[in-house]
Amino acid sequence: MTGTIEFHDRLLSLGLARVAEQAALASASLVGRGDEKAADQAAVNAMREQLNLLDIAGVVVIGEGERDEAPMLYIGEEVGTGNGPGVDIALDPLEGTTLTAKDMPNALTVIAMGPRGSMLHAPDVYMEKVAIGPGYPEGLITLDMPAATRVSALATEKGCLPSDITVCILERPRHEEMIAEVRSTGASIRLITDGDVAGVMHCAESEKTGIDMYMGSGGAPEGVLAAAALKCMGGQIYGRLLFRNDDEKARAAKAGITDLDKIYGRDEMVQQDVIFAATGVTGGTLLAGIKREPGWLTTQTLLMRSKTGSVRRMEYRTPV
Ligand code: FBP
Repeated sequence: MTGTIEFHDRLLSLGLARVAEQAALASASLVGRGDEKAADQAAVNAMREQLNLLDIAGVVVIGEGERDEAPMLYIGEEVGTGNGPGVDIALDPLEGTTLTAKDMPNALTVIAMGPRGSMLHAPDVYMEKVAIGPGYPEGLITLDMPAATRVSALATEKGCLPSDITVCILERPRHEEMIAEVRSTGASIRLITDGDVAGVMHCAESEKTGIDMYMGSGGAPEGVLAAAALKCMGGQIYGRLLFRNDDEKARAAKAGITDLDKIYGRDEMVQQDVIFAATGVTGGTLLAGIKREPGWLTTQTLLMRSKTGSVRRMEYRTPV
C-alpha cells in the first residue's frame, strides 16, 4: 500500500520545515554552552519526535550512524506514522555541533526527504568533494582536476581573474597542500572550522555569501545532504568516498556500494526530486540564527523543493 501512495512533495514540505525548526528550537538553550553532546542530543530527540508525527513511511538512509552506535535516528530506522508514502530521509539534526557549543556561525539543523530509493546510502566515511553554484556548464570543474585548475576554469567561465574567486575549505591539516595550491592561484580562501553542508550551500548563493566554490574532504553523509540542497538551489557537486581502513570499506559494502572509486555527481547522490529544510541555529550568511527575546524564540528556515526550484525563507516565532 505504502509503495503506491504518491510522494506529495508540496504537501509534505511544511511538515519538513517544522521538523527542522523544532530541532533548532530544542538546541536553542545550548548555544554557546560548551556542550556539544547535549546540544546534539536535544536536536536529535526533537527531530525524531516531529518526524514521527508525519504521515509518511520513512526510512532514515543518512542518519546519526549505524544502529549499534546510534540509539536514535540510526541508518535504517523507520520513522513517521506509517500512513503515507514510502520515503527516504537524510538528516543531520545538528550540523556543526562544535559551532553550536562555541556559538560560531553557520550551525544548522538539516533534513531532506525524497521518494523511497531516491538517495545514495552513503556510509559514515569521508568524502572528497568539490562544488560550485548554478549557471555553469556541467563538468566545468571535476574531482580529477588539480585544485589550481578548478580555480582557473571557474575564473575563465566567470570572466574574472583567479584572484576574484573565493574558495571555501574546511581548516584541517589534511587540506594544507590543497590550501597552498589554491593560494598559489591568487584566489582567496574562506576557511571554516566545521559545517561543510553550509559550506557547499554557500556556493549556490555566491552573490550573497561571497563563496564561489567549495572543495575538500568531509563527511560522506554531509555530501549527500549538500547534494540534496544543490538539487533544489541549483549547482554542481561531485563526491568520491575515501576509505582509511578495511572497516570503512566493509561499511560501504554493507550500504550496497561495490565501486569504491566511483565519482558521484549530484544526481547520482540524489536521484529523484526531493524536499529540503534547514533551520539556522547560530547566525550566518545563509540563515539567521535563533533569536532569543524575553518570552519569544524566533527561527529562520530555508525550505526548498527540487521539482519547482522553489526556495523559501520562513520566519517562525513561538512563545516560550
Ligand atoms: P558534526 O556536526 O557532526 O560535528 O560535523 C561537523 C563537520 O564539520 C561536518 O560538516 C564535516 O563534514 C565533518 O564534520 C568533517 O569531519 P572532520 O571534523 O573529521 O574533519
